[in-house]
Amino acid sequence: MQVCLGVMNMMNFFLFLFLSIFLLCHPISASNLHKTKQLTLNLVSEPTSSHDTPTRYFEVTKPIELPKTKPCSYHILHHHFGNTYHKPPVLAHYTPPSICQSQNLSKIVLEWKATSKGKQFDRIFGVWLGGVELLRSCTAEPRSTGIVWTVEKDITRYHSLLLNQQNLTLVVYLGNIVDKTYTGIYHVDITFHFYPHNHHERKKFKSLAFGSGFHADLILPISRNLPLNDGLWFQIHNSTDVSLKEFIIPQNAYRAVLEVYISFHENDETWYSNPPNEYLVANNLTDTPGNGPFREVVITLDEMVVGSVWPFTVIYTGGVNPLLWRPISGIGSFDLPSYDIEITPFLGTILDGKIHLFRFSVTNSLNVWFIDANLHLWLDGKSSRTEGKLLNYIDKPLVESLVFEFNGLNGTFLTSVKKSFLSTGWVNSSFGNITTSFVQDFNYYNSMVMTKNGGKQTVNQIIDFNDSVLAKVPSPFRDLVDDTNRKFSLYLDSEEVLEQDNDDTYLSVSNFTLGIDEKKSKSQDYGFSNSILNNLQGGQGRMVVKKDMVVSAVGETQQDYKYTSDEYCYFRKIGSSNYTILYDEVKDSCNKKCH
Ligand SMILES: *[C@@H]1O[C@H](CO)[C@@H](O)[C@H](O)[C@H]1NC(C)=O
Ligand SMILES: *[C@@H]1O[C@H](CO)[C@@H](O)[C@H](O)[C@H]1NC(C)=O
Ligand SMILES: *[C@@H]1O[C@H](CO)[C@@H](O)[C@H](O)[C@H]1NC(C)=O
Ligand SMILES: *[C@@H]1O[C@H](CO)[C@@H](O)[C@H](O)[C@H]1NC(C)=O
Ligand SMILES: *[C@@H]1O[C@H](CO)[C@@H](O)[C@H](O)[C@H]1NC(C)=O
Ligand SMILES: *[C@@H]1O[C@H](CO)[C@@H](O)[C@H](O)[C@H]1NC(C)=O
Ligand SMILES: *[C@@H]1O[C@H](CO)[C@@H](O)[C@H](O)[C@H]1NC(C)=O
Ligand SMILES: *[C@@H]1O[C@H](CO)[C@@H](O)[C@H](O)[C@H]1NC(C)=O
Ligand SMILES: *[C@@H]1O[C@H](CO)[C@@H](O)[C@H](O)[C@H]1NC(C)=O
Ligand SMILES: *[C@@H]1O[C@H](CO)[C@@H](O)[C@H](O)[C@H]1NC(C)=O
Repeated sequence: MQVCLGVMNMMNFFLFLFLSIFLLCHPISASNLHKTKQLTLNLVSEPTSSHDTPTRYFEVTKPIELPKTKPCSYHILHHHFGNTYHKPPVLAHYTPPSICQSQNLSKIVLEWKATSKGKQFDRIFGVWLGGVELLRSCTAEPRSTGIVWTVEKDITRYHSLLLNQQNLTLVVYLGNIVDKTYTGIYHVDITFHFYPHNHHERKKFKSLAFGSGFHADLILPISRNLPLNDGLWFQIHNSTDVSLKEFIIPQNAYRAVLEVYISFHENDETWYSNPPNEYLVANNLTDTPGNGPFREVVITLDEMVVGSVWPFTVIYTGGVNPLLWRPISGIGSFDLPSYDIEITPFLGTILDGKIHLFRFSVTNSLNVWFIDANLHLWLDGKSSRTEGKLLNYIDKPLVESLVFEFNGLNGTFLTSVKKSFLSTGWVNSSFGNITTSFVQDFNYYNSMVMTKNGGKQTVNQIIDFNDSVLAKVPSPFRDLVDDTNRKFSLYLDSEEVLEQDNDDTYLSVSNFTLGIDEKKSKSQDYGFSNSILNNLQGGQGRMVVKKDMVVSAVGETQQDYKYTSDEYCYFRKIGSSNYTILYDEVKDSCNKKCH
């Protein structure tokens, strides 16, 4: 009999899942470090690269559209992240370089460049400027011959912070532990690149579009304050835990958007594969993360819900099977998405110059979620006071359905959740009396099937949501319309088979697909801008784990990235197998006139 270990097998499967949680973008809470034996990520028989050159890891994404101008570059940090866990974050002083300031800028890019060599877990990290988060990311896992990777992020939306404020502190927190086994130190350089406008390009004038295409005048941090021995993110430990931040806004704001950064770790690292508690209780699985597979980040302003985030299922670089992400990293793993919540309908309630409160909570959450936010504010240059009022506010409760059936460790669990949210309010400023509506419609579906006495788990999940902002603006200004439809899909099939006569060795086989589809339509200076992204990744991996050591692993990954917009297109089809790129086709023209 191949699989006859019943509960033992299941227990091991979950033990395996549990262990693998600590392989993932690893925040190392002290308790975990001593709780369980960890799987080492580096293979006993690791395929070596033919030359001793570092392997370049990357996330497939469209390049940032840059003007053909020479950037003014500002190298702000060079640091070696060795034993940094539970130590204060690394700080650097930042004052906008006057040479860069004197130009009319078109784009600002943050470049994170890192190298590492040896063995190390993947680590979560964050980069903040003046408490405003600029980047949430996960490190790549090194190998003995060394690795290098670069993350380039368009940070033009933080324009006012980067150029108008003096004497800011850059904060980087990356909690790493180096010892005899885990030798990987992360050597990091951070540079800001300021790209001036190309004078030959059509210049974007501040035109008749209201608050659109232009960046906020002020960005307030909704994060924790220094000093800390940790990141500036708040930590949410369970479903009743609430993090909060007090703030005051200037009394002449006419638009507000809250940008929320989110990452999930430890027991909720793979929340989408957590079974319902009924199943765990019935099977006496006490160490397995549960609460089912649905999570919602809820944002509250004073006592009112202002919107939700149903997050993308980022898989970090140690997730499922580390070989799946070498060298093509998981979607979003090097640049975790942030989520915008339109606050303008509620602006009237916070224009009184008094202290107000944002709160974050996560429905069904287990330990631990890292959340913080940036409040982007547009200020009325022609008046010192704006006023407004909330007109309508509908926060419909979740409509949930959980249908399940299980017999011992075999089972099928179907979870579906729906929700709608609407807020409308007016703000009177020198632009006139503007009524803004924010609508969110969410749809969630998760199917989880356990077979082979729990030795095999198949998860299929789709999150589909529409966010829509409409600001009705008196003439001569144009209405602001910003509609986004997103679909986050995940399929994860994993099986673990204990080797016969050898209960400390098992084979783990897994398949996944991970996708983001995004359709955007937004009012621009003249007309609308539309874009469509279809980004789909798939992979197959096998690994043999003996006494918590991965003794052999293979992985193949394919990705199909398609982005089209009115001005720009980018297509990339790429595949890899055990570190080797098998094919890589790139096309960056829309080819509208061809064929
Ligand atoms: C920046 O733009 C303003 C207004 O368009 C113009 O007057 C100024 O000369 C420009 N500065 C530079 C350095 O190009
Ligand atoms: C910037 O901060 C430093 C140290 O905190 C201080 O010595 C300096 O005076 C400040 N400069 C300005 C322009 O505020
Ligand atoms: C939830 O987390 C908070 C903060 O860590 C803690 O105070 C509280 O006791 C926890 N609640 C439960 C039910 O575990
Ligand atoms: C769970 O534990 C209880 C009490 O120890 C025991 O009676 C029961 O049979 C166990 N159930 C399973 C499925 O192992
Ligand atoms: C709206 O705001 C403008 C500019 O701040 C102001 O002049 C006007 O009186 C306001 N309208 C009302 C009805 O308060
Ligand atoms: C702005 O418009 C709303 C809705 O049309 C109206 O209720 C409100 O009184 C107006 N406010 C001002 C200051 O004119
Ligand atoms: C989002 O909008 C699209 C297109 O209008 C629609 O097909 C889809 O059902 C909507 N999704 C939700 C969750 O409302
Ligand atoms: C669970 O399913 C497997 C096949 O996937 C079967 O061999 C086993 O008997 C089932 N166990 C129970 C308790 O039904
Ligand atoms: C992986 O995918 C293949 C092909 O779709 C399938 O036959 C196999 O059962 C899958 N195995 C696992 C463990 O996911
Ligand atoms: C990766 O390893 C698997 C299993 O040994 C093998 O089938 C595959 O061909 C390897 N890929 C490459 C590019 O060598």
